[in-house]
Amino acid sequence: ALPASVERLLGEMTVEEKAGQVTLMAAAWAGGAANALNPITATASFDEQLEQTRRGRLGGVFNGNGAEMARRMQTVAVRESRLRVPLIFAADIIHGFRTVFPMPIAEAGSFDPELARRTARVAAEEASAAGIDWTFAPMVDIARDQRWGRGVEGAGEDILLGRIMADARVRGFQGERGLAADTALMSCAKHFAAYGAAEAGLDYNTVDVSERTLREVYFPPFQAAFAAGSGTTMASFNELSGIPATANEWLLTQVLRREWGFDGLVVSDYTGDMELIDHGFAADARDATRLAFMAGVDMSMQSGFYLEHLPGLVASGDVPMERLDQAVRRVLALKQRLGLFDDPFRRIDPRRERTRVRTPANLRLAREAGARSIVMLKNEGDLLPLPKSGKRIALIGPFAEGQHDLVGTWNVYGSDAEAVDLLTGVRAAVADPSLVTAVAGSDIDAPLPGGIEAAVLAAAAADIVVLAVGESQRMSGEAQSRTQIIVPPAQQALADAVAAVGKPTVVLLKNGRALALTGAINDASAILVTWFLGSESGPATADILFGDVAPSARLPVSFPHADGQQPYHYSHKPTGRPNPPGPLLEYKARWREGPNAALYPFGHGLTYGRIGYSALDLGGGSLAPGGTLVARATVTNSGTRAATEVVQLYIRDLAASITRPVRELKAFRRVDLAPGASEQVEFRLTRDDLLFVGQDLGRTVEPGRFRLWIAPSAEAEGVTGEFTLTA
Ligand code: IFM
Repeated sequence: ALPASVERLLGEMTVEEKAGQVTLMAAAWAGGAANALNPITATASFDEQLEQTRRGRLGGVFNGNGAEMARRMQTVAVRESRLRVPLIFAADIIHGFRTVFPMPIAEAGSFDPELARRTARVAAEEASAAGIDWTFAPMVDIARDQRWGRGVEGAGEDILLGRIMADARVRGFQGERGLAADTALMSCAKHFAAYGAAEAGLDYNTVDVSERTLREVYFPPFQAAFAAGSGTTMASFNELSGIPATANEWLLTQVLRREWGFDGLVVSDYTGDMELIDHGFAADARDATRLAFMAGVDMSMQSGFYLEHLPGLVASGDVPMERLDQAVRRVLALKQRLGLFDDPFRRIDPRRERTRVRTPANLRLAREAGARSIVMLKNEGDLLPLPKSGKRIALIGPFAEGQHDLVGTWNVYGSDAEAVDLLTGVRAAVADPSLVTAVAGSDIDAPLPGGIEAAVLAAAAADIVVLAVGESQRMSGEAQSRTQIIVPPAQQALADAVAAVGKPTVVLLKNGRALALTGAINDASAILVTWFLGSESGPATADILFGDVAPSARLPVSFPHADGQQPYHYSHKPTGRPNPPGPLLEYKARWREGPNAALYPFGHGLTYGRIGYSALDLGGGSLAPGGTLVARATVTNSGTRAATEVVQLYIRDLAASITRPVRELKAFRRVDLAPGASEQVEFRLTRDDLLFVGQDLGRTVEPGRFRLWIAPSAEAEGVTGEFTLTA
């Protein structure tokens, strides 16, 4: 319940002021980042927005431009508007503020939720100092089709990893001192729901998945975010089996509120309500407003539809006043929880804004997070780590140097200009920086005149080639779907020409999704997946290249052999005609051109140690309904360097009343192993870990046999055995 003083405000509001409270607009600061991102408001001037605020026609703004502007707007709201209701300031704080951390997909590869919590906390500390109260993060959409560009903002293809990262990020953004703390940001689990299941991976496209799949795959990360305290969610742009999410009463009210008991706020995604018209679901703006609002979208982002049409809809009786009051109450409750009625300026502090961002400690964390997000796919002949002295190193490729493609997409406040590039990072790490050269060799998407010739010369003059190739940061993210998930052909040609020189070559991939690797890129002796790592990209990469940090990240998404396999994910169903490893058999679930498996599966990633798995112990191999199965395996580092291994536990339910995936991740643990060290790793499974969505769409579990793997990836054998769940 709202405090009486806030409830009283609601009682005093006109219907127009109520419509104002449920209206959120992109901030219209002249010259601010928001204008570029939000073309619709590029026409609204700052003065016009101040006037809207003064008249009580605005509940909040998003993606604004700093504490000083926020202070000016908030001053008008609380001193000059009739009821003095404070504004709420929101922003897309996805992976950092001025200190930029790795893209969420990269950080998910750390399999380290505590790291994700820490980076989200620092992001909140920095953003809150600039007046931001509410972040449109975390994105918790499961992404199983790598053509979809927005997978880069999430935790990848797996349900368990998605849940764990959602929980960690919410806790990080919101902090431990309560939401009224000056460094707390309210989080927003988005995009509800199944945005990542767009047909053909085309952003905004139709989604048609079964209710079972929704409940089993796409809902759990949202439930984890809400359980961690996320008090808002954002309706997704897509339709869901014929009904757009933004007008989906079943989704937004029946499931979210009645079933799950969510009592927070639902905001539309940008012009999601307006888009109901283009979906062919609403006849006009008034209809779209009614449909979205009555389905459960409390606050409208950016279209202005609620402001314009709710008063009329209430007057005609098409929207009950009680529903409007309910939505306004939710907005006021959000502001109340964030402490804005007590002190509307608590997060608006130009001095903190200057002193709290990009601190040495924050940048150190960015470097640590960067290094812990790099996945080593292969390392033939122990080419890595590279020596720091005595070798001439040629950095070749469009990502070898320069202040570009470092921070990654959806970063409103950080900038490539403030990030450290590869050349700078590598030169700082080696004994003699003059031995390191950099040549682009190609543009990202097109050949560079004379580029290949220059690159070949540089390779010939070097002892070691580091080939930095891949996607630009603009090739993933919102509206960046790809039909081919490959390294662009111009760079592939560069790689092939450089490989022909014959020097030991390390490929550094830049990417915001899993890629299908071919030719010289795939054949290189060593491959590191370096994503977009943020402010400390270059130094973090150098830390791994030269062995100051051992690679420890794992793929959060499976790299397929070919892009035609999409959507490929490790946890697929078996089919009635599975294709066993070995020679291809004709009438099997197979591709004519290649294996029905990953080139590098989910969970894969090497380290500088040499890791072996042995001695699986499942106790008696039997799990009683109220009991615990203790699964143990020994993990050994027989190499000469310290290593961190992400030990993963998978199961397969061998026969059930609903077919089950070939494998499901159920637990994982990061284990540090000194050279020569062994550790017995122990996992404890209970019946709850075996639940699935049954025929009646409730969660169920059935007695029977299960296969279990403790393994270094989703498609590696590791050590394996069977256990039985008894009745
Ligand atoms: O938060 C984002 C969302 O993820 C995509 N559309 C715009 C929103 C606000 O910037």
